[in-house]
Amino acid sequence: MRQLGVRAVLGALLLGSTALASIENDFSAVLKFGPRVTGTPANEQARTYLEGQFRALGYTTRREAFSYPRFDDLGSDVRVGERTLRGVALQGSAGGEVSAPVALVPGVGTPEEFRGADVRGKVAVVRRGQIPFAQKARNALAAGARGLIVVNNADGELRGGTLGERVELPVLGVSAATGAGLRAGQPVTLAVRVRQGDVRGVNVVAFKTGVTRPELLFGAHMDSVAGAPGANDNLSGTLAVLDLARRAVNTPLAARSYFVLFDGEEDGLRGSRAFVKDNAALVGGLRAMFNFDMVGVNVDPLGVSGDDALVNAAREANPALRSFSGGGGGSDHASFAQAGVATLFFHTGIDPNYHQPGDTVLDPALVRQTVDAALKTVDAVLSAAPASR
Ligand code: BES
Ligand code: ZN
Repeated sequence: MRQLGVRAVLGALLLGSTALASIENDFSAVLKFGPRVTGTPANEQARTYLEGQFRALGYTTRREAFSYPRFDDLGSDVRVGERTLRGVALQGSAGGEVSAPVALVPGVGTPEEFRGADVRGKVAVVRRGQIPFAQKARNALAAGARGLIVVNNADGELRGGTLGERVELPVLGVSAATGAGLRAGQPVTLAVRVRQGDVRGVNVVAFKTGVTRPELLFGAHMDSVAGAPGANDNLSGTLAVLDLARRAVNTPLAARSYFVLFDGEEDGLRGSRAFVKDNAALVGGLRAMFNFDMVGVNVDPLGVSGDDALVNAAREANPALRSFSGGGGGSDHASFAQAGVATLFFHTGIDPNYHQPGDTVLDPALVRQTVDAALKTVDAVLSAAPASR
């Protein structure tokens, strides 16, 4: 008896540390590929590695491709004499290189402000704010400007700005510091290098051979934004799903589950939307979809949000679990919720490195804690009366 007990404890310890080591190994293996922007080689390398891990565990994997249009800034700037000042092309901007004098428009770019400034044939400069980017651009075009620079009204680079439509004018967003360096009449070269094209995303779906009607789906997005290595967002959730697959592999749970790594999340939940669309019967039969996004940095204690019954089950099974409402941002559970699936979203809040180059760390213990909480929730959900289907 005593022997057995010791063995059990040793076994559990070993199991725990093996799982922990695996999360750590997988973390360093995938992180070194760099930002996993959908459609890039690093994204593909990460997928190949992760797929291999599911296969090594004995799961079957399948790839599901989808495509969508995306606007990419290939590196845009404004050159002033010998200096090259970096900026970010606003989404929807035309590409092009324009050498012309600067026209400083005092304001945010209303038609009246343009009327008072002589911008014809010049590179107009306006401040961010008050009116939509597209209006500034259309007003600049109507006033005869050959290019437009929008200066941020807050600290930092003007990132993620979008015109929301195609405007036939090169439009560059710059920081307030860069904008402050531009002088009226100064000759500059505005170079906006952009590409509008179709991107191909690929989801990885892992399951036990023969399982076609899972009750549970565990998902996380494996892509990241440009310039961010995506440790917490969202290698953390990806590794939680892989670890769930590892922990489930020789248990009945494996035969009741699908494990999905979504691509294209950062471009608007593209992968999960494609999955829901392409797997309607499977999705219709799910009892729950568990999504893991940003679970590796302890900003807030681990929390859940989503379907009321699932949140309650999760919190009964894990008294320390917080319930979030509203917070947490958009992620792949939304695609399933929209399709009528009960979802549960696990996350630990928004860390300071969110979508930044500094998103390079995660705590494997937090990922493991998330997996533990999910498994306890699964027990509670599956031991409840099965849904009729
Ligand atoms: N990982 C985030 C969502 C998130 C934020 C999860 C905070 C947990 C805490 C996700 O990758 C993201 O950036 N989503 C976007 C929306 C999406 C449709 C592009 C967001 O929240 O702004
Ligand atoms: Zn994310």
